[in-house]
Amino acid sequence: KMKAIIFDLDGVICSTDHYHYLAWKSLADDLNIPFDEKDNERLRGVSRMESLDIILEKSKENYSLKEKEQFADRKNKLYQQYLLKMSTKDLSKEVKETLEQLRKKGLKLAIGSSSKNTMLILKQLGLDTFFDAISDGNSIQYSKPHPEVFMKAADLLNIPYKECLVVEDAISGCFAAKSASMNVAALSSAYHCTFADYHLNCFKELLDIKY
Ligand code: G6P
Ligand code: MG
Repeated sequence: KMKAIIFDLDGVICSTDHYHYLAWKSLADDLNIPFDEKDNERLRGVSRMESLDIILEKSKENYSLKEKEQFADRKNKLYQQYLLKMSTKDLSKEVKETLEQLRKKGLKLAIGSSSKNTMLILKQLGLDTFFDAISDGNSIQYSKPHPEVFMKAADLLNIPYKECLVVEDAISGCFAAKSASMNVAALSSAYHCTFADYHLNCFKELLDIKY
């Protein structure tokens, strides 16, 4: 029996995953580092600094920690410019209505995201007071595939891990959920994840699951 759903944010609730890509791409171009949408797949669910390290794998330079922090900052400022243009219009009707119907079923709903911009994004979408719990990049030590962010969300809800369903678009996130003995529904980029419990063609298929 599942009593709670923990949603990843970027690429699940909204399409900010594309803004992450555009902002990293701009930095990579400035540094003359090859970077495309395929490389971007490896950044899903991974923290900001870890993402930068993955991008810098293809660089010939050896940057200092201070330089790396400046790069991450530059990327984040650009990324936030995209976020600030977002509004309630960027919350799709499908996601909004599905969330409302899941709540009507009596399920607890939470966010489990590695992003430090989680609250800003939820505010832009008009979802800042909607969820029963929010666990994000500001309160964790280890990002996905470590299960910490999802365990924190379940602890805040006071629901056993086995009774949680995690919704993910990243393989790293599916892995994190499984490491915490949670159920996983994989969609979009993670659709083919072999160890997911559910494979969703679209968000509203969450309504077809037996909870
Ligand atoms: C999410 C995204 C990652 C991103 C991470 C940190 O997990 O899927 O691509 O790197 O959040 O985001 P932040 O907004 O803190 O830079
Ligand atoms: Mg994601």
